[in-house]
Amino acid sequence: MKILVVGGGGREHAIIKSVKQNKQVEVIYALPGNGGIANDAICVDIGAKDIDGIVRFAKENRIDYAIVAPDDPLVLGAVDALEAVGIPCFGPNKAAAIIEGSKAFSKELMKKYGIPTAKYETFSDESEALSYLEEITYPTVVKADGLALGKGVIIAADKKEAVSAVKSMMSGGMFGESGKRVIIEEFLVGPEVSVLAFTDGKCVVPMISSMDHKRARDNDEGLNTGGMGTVAPNPYYTDDVKEVCMNKIFLPTVNAMRNEGRTFKGCLYFGLMITKDGPKVIEYNCRFGDPETQVVLPLLESDLLTVMMAVTEERLADTEVRFSDRAACCVIMASNGYPEKYEKGYEITIPEEIKDQVYVAGAAVKDGRLVTSGGRVLGAVSTAEKLEDAILSAYKLVDKIRFEGAYYRHDIGARALACKGE
Ligand code: AMP
Ligand code: GLY
Repeated sequence: MKILVVGGGGREHAIIKSVKQNKQVEVIYALPGNGGIANDAICVDIGAKDIDGIVRFAKENRIDYAIVAPDDPLVLGAVDALEAVGIPCFGPNKAAAIIEGSKAFSKELMKKYGIPTAKYETFSDESEALSYLEEITYPTVVKADGLALGKGVIIAADKKEAVSAVKSMMSGGMFGESGKRVIIEEFLVGPEVSVLAFTDGKCVVPMISSMDHKRARDNDEGLNTGGMGTVAPNPYYTDDVKEVCMNKIFLPTVNAMRNEGRTFKGCLYFGLMITKDGPKVIEYNCRFGDPETQVVLPLLESDLLTVMMAVTEERLADTEVRFSDRAACCVIMASNGYPEKYEKGYEITIPEEIKDQVYVAGAAVKDGRLVTSGGRVLGAVSTAEKLEDAILSAYKLVDKIRFEGAYYRHDIGARALACKGE
């Protein structure tokens, strides 16, 4: 089979390494891929948002199956465009990807179907948003409606910060069109859990739970990032929480989307907060999480491509999806300065014997050498029987990888380990 994977980050590298294990796979093309993915797939310089380019490439190369991994092409309708020329895909169509593409949509969906989430109001008019800020208690949360590279959320400690967030989004051009409509929502407190789930629109199969570490610095300090590391499973996702999530969140969401004529097929990501009133949805993503995928897929024992094709063909209920009971840890190594200004072009050295455990995100090949080309450069991933050992061995990998200005958090998994003693 000829497989095409749209995207070029650590998540795509994890997907490609997993899909490659299927013996029927002859070739994998990554559009655009990256310098590290080039070891596992043929990278083609077509951007993930270039839908026409992707479709043309897929047709010319007689692709048998396409996996669209990032949010942008999904929201732009890449799956619809590929299916229109007869190429089966993993990923939701445009109508369903709106669950991530518009927070106003997803909040409205949750309200309509009674799915637990933070209380909120949506505003398209800045003066109305500003007068609402007079009525509420603080802290509060201001969110851009559209896609904003995972950065469109501002936690405002007081009214002054909230006013500034609203103004910079609605009239200041921060996040462009995505920020012209905002959501102002209740600030929730509790540990966060990420659950990625396979769904074919009827059946929903949650994968092993995970915990992201979104802040740039140790002890959850510093700016929000795309994610500085992950562990799986997440110890806050107990059997009781799991059951509530299935009955009150996962199934109702999949059923709601079908009922709205927006059947969701692909990987639906539930960003949850376990509050004292039970689990609530913080956000939905229409795709695999990054860097959650880097700890979830190494624990998948079933064949990924087989499961993905069962999703596409709506046979998920008859397909086994089995996870190992081991634990995994991913430590992201970033360029110093990320998520703000950072330099690129530094040579990366990864010892040959650990390459299988490295998922490359922001790296390019220049003059035959692998060099840094992005903020999040790579993820070092390890699995073990016990979470503490997975963490220790992930950091041992980090010690063996070198590039100038490498920055990483030292406490990935610490909160998960502390919870185990609770
Ligand atoms: P999001 O992009 O929606 O995942 O938000 C980014 C991060 O902001 C989340 O992972 C949470 O840590 C935080 N956040 C978002 N919404 C809320 C909320 N209503 N209450 C508290 N924290 C929130
Ligand atoms: N790790 C969060 C995300 O993928 O959006």
